[in-house]
Amino acid sequence: MSQGLVTMSYIAASILFILSLGGLSNPETARRGNLYGMIGMGIAVFATIMSDTVDSYVILIIALLIGGTIGSKAAKMVEMTQMPELVAIMHSLVGMAAVLVGYANFIDPTATLTGVEKTIHEVEIYLGILIGAVTFTGSVVAFGKLSGRIGGTPVLLPGRHWLNLGLLVASIWLCMQFIESAETGGGTWALILMTLIAFAFGVHMVMAIGGADMPVVVSMLNSYSGWAAAATGFMLNNDLLIVTGALVGSSGAILSYIMCRAMNRNFISVIAGGFGTGTGGGGEAAVVEGEVSPIEAAETAQLLLDAKNIVIIPGYGMAVAQAQHTVNEITKLLRSKGKNVSFGIHPVAGRMPGHMNVLLAEAKVPYDIVFEMDEINDDFPNVDVSIVIGANDIVNPSALDDPNSPIAGMPVLECWKGETTIVLKRSMASGYAGVGNPLFVHENTRMLFGDANDSMQEVLKILNS
Ligand code: TAP
Repeated sequence: MSQGLVTMSYIAASILFILSLGGLSNPETARRGNLYGMIGMGIAVFATIMSDTVDSYVILIIALLIGGTIGSKAAKMVEMTQMPELVAIMHSLVGMAAVLVGYANFIDPTATLTGVEKTIHEVEIYLGILIGAVTFTGSVVAFGKLSGRIGGTPVLLPGRHWLNLGLLVASIWLCMQFIESAETGGGTWALILMTLIAFAFGVHMVMAIGGADMPVVVSMLNSYSGWAAAATGFMLNNDLLIVTGALVGSSGAILSYIMCRAMNRNFISVIAGGFGTGTGGGGEAAVVEGEVSPIEAAETAQLLLDAKNIVIIPGYGMAVAQAQHTVNEITKLLRSKGKNVSFGIHPVAGRMPGHMNVLLAEAKVPYDIVFEMDEINDDFPNVDVSIVIGANDIVNPSALDDPNSPIAGMPVLECWKGETTIVLKRSMASGYAGVGNPLFVHENTRMLFGDANDSMQEVLKILNS
């Protein structure tokens, strides 16, 4: 394929990636966005394979077959609830790819660059390996935390901020040593030492972040993986990889910022670690005490039939129970009886950005009754019944009134301001952040214990009878 055709294909792929990002910003256009992304990636891979830079087709086809098989098997096997872990482990692969490409470039015997160009190339190699190594270990630890293999409690080493600063200074010094030694064909030791430091930094950074702040870490690692890909693009002189990496890097950074704003967190403080341990005065979080008032499916159905304004608040438990289809059936039935049914979505409900929107869209819940937290929070005083389906942290009032709570300052859905709140969950267990929830013992809260889908099925049966 001629260079001109390759360039044109790259431009087309870049445009499709931008259209894809635009599409993904709204549930109604997300499917189209995904399609654009897939076509763009297909064009990108095809044009790269057909370009002059590729000549070892056998290795390439074997690698494509192995990668493609593993990827498609993983996608088929993985449950919707395991998606965030899959995303985290995928980020680690991007990080490791950047490290390997960096080392391959460093030892490339055919390299002919000299002077300033050589120095620039060395900086590219150094940065690519640095960002890639941090992304790799950070993502592996995030995968461990999200899948429950590593505990959610932050590991806070004494003087951790000084340690981070020390690692940063050491990396800058090693960069200078590397560039100096690389002039005379050396520099391997500086590169290896920096890689080890970056690996350690990735582990330390994510281990220090508390459970409730993990959403920010996931989107931040998404951003890092983009910058690692962009750095790889510079090393390989591939414009499309630079553009795509920059798109992923900047959209991930914007998402991290939006998440931080939604959770009332300071971005720098989150990545410096320790915010998940308590943002307040550092005291003990209040212990939840009080009487739990259980409810059965029949009474729940009756309350719904008596209500006019109903808000449904889905959380991670709805994803676990796969209750979205039953929830949609109940919604349709209640709306046909003239009830106002709306959904209140917290920005970090579930385990990944947009998790609840995806589930509700899959169940075909109409978009116009699904509201963001900010759009619905003021309406709760007029709500007759709120149904909390497998949500916990996102409806925890202690985020607003207990300054020592690990989630202090995070805005939540204030359902307790309504007339009655019914919480569907299996036990009194805490949510992702591991904190007690006073909502469960609130005077107007009733607990409907059991698997959310089973409970909703029972309610639906009674409503239909
Ligand atoms: P959580 O606070 O994790 O609470 C989920 C609740 O669902 C649990 O208390 C659990 O209680 C219940 N549950 C689990 N399986 C269930 C089932 N089959 N049937 C009924 N209930 C079930 O979830 P949330 O309220 O959605 O809050 C999200 C949390 O995850 C936040 O802390 C957030 O920071 C964090 N997080 C979010 C993200 C993103 S980007 N969304 C990423 C990582 C972490 P039982 O065990 O008693 O049933």
